[in-house]
Amino acid sequence: MRIRLAETADVEAIADLEAESFPADSWPAGYLREGVEGLLHGTVLHVAVDDDGVIVGHAITSIVFEIAELQRISVTPALRRRGVAGELLAAVRDEATRQGAERLLLEVRETNTGALAFYERAGFVEIDRRPRYYRDGTTAIILQMEL
Ligand SMILES: CC(C)(COP(=O)(O)OP(=O)(O)OC[C@H]1O[C@@H](n2cnc3c(N)ncnc32)[C@H](O)[C@@H]1OP(=O)(O)O)[C@@H](O)C(=O)NCCC(=O)NCCS
Repeated sequence: MRIRLAETADVEAIADLEAESFPADSWPAGYLREGVEGLLHGTVLHVAVDDDGVIVGHAITSIVFEIAELQRISVTPALRRRGVAGELLAAVRDEATRQGAERLLLEVRETNTGALAFYERAGFVEIDRRPRYYRDGTTAIILQMEL
């Protein structure tokens, strides 16, 4: 398993992961391609690649001055609970720090207990809640980690 920055050839595989992990609001392939190619200001995409070269996870981060925001992190269901997301997050933190960010923020549905457990274990702390933030009425929890 290794973590690297995404390339244009990875876009289709990332789009498949998006559809699998975020069926309600997945990023379309065209938007992902713009991100990979550096056309979305501050957006960085990382992928986790297994020993056969298959993309099994991805993370999308936007880094603007001192604030980095983790937009997405996902791992293909069959490979969860093996530390892949932890490795992706470490790469995100390294890149955000390298670019001068001081804080890593994210928002997560309060119903996403698996992700909340992952973020808590990783050291994020809750700083805010936004009731009915999502279109379906779910509350968003805002989490932060100092870099
Ligand atoms: C959240 C997600 C990225 C975690 O990926 P992962 O590779 O399974 O996470 P890791 O193996 O690195 O987990 C590290 C630790 O976090 C905690 N954790 C991770 N997933 C958990 C879950 N579903 N339930 C409880 N704790 C969890 C555990 O403490 C775990 O350590 P352990 O397995 O030794 O107990 C993955 O479940 C996923 O892709 N979910 C769907 C997409 C999503 O909701 N993303 C977040 C919102 S953007």
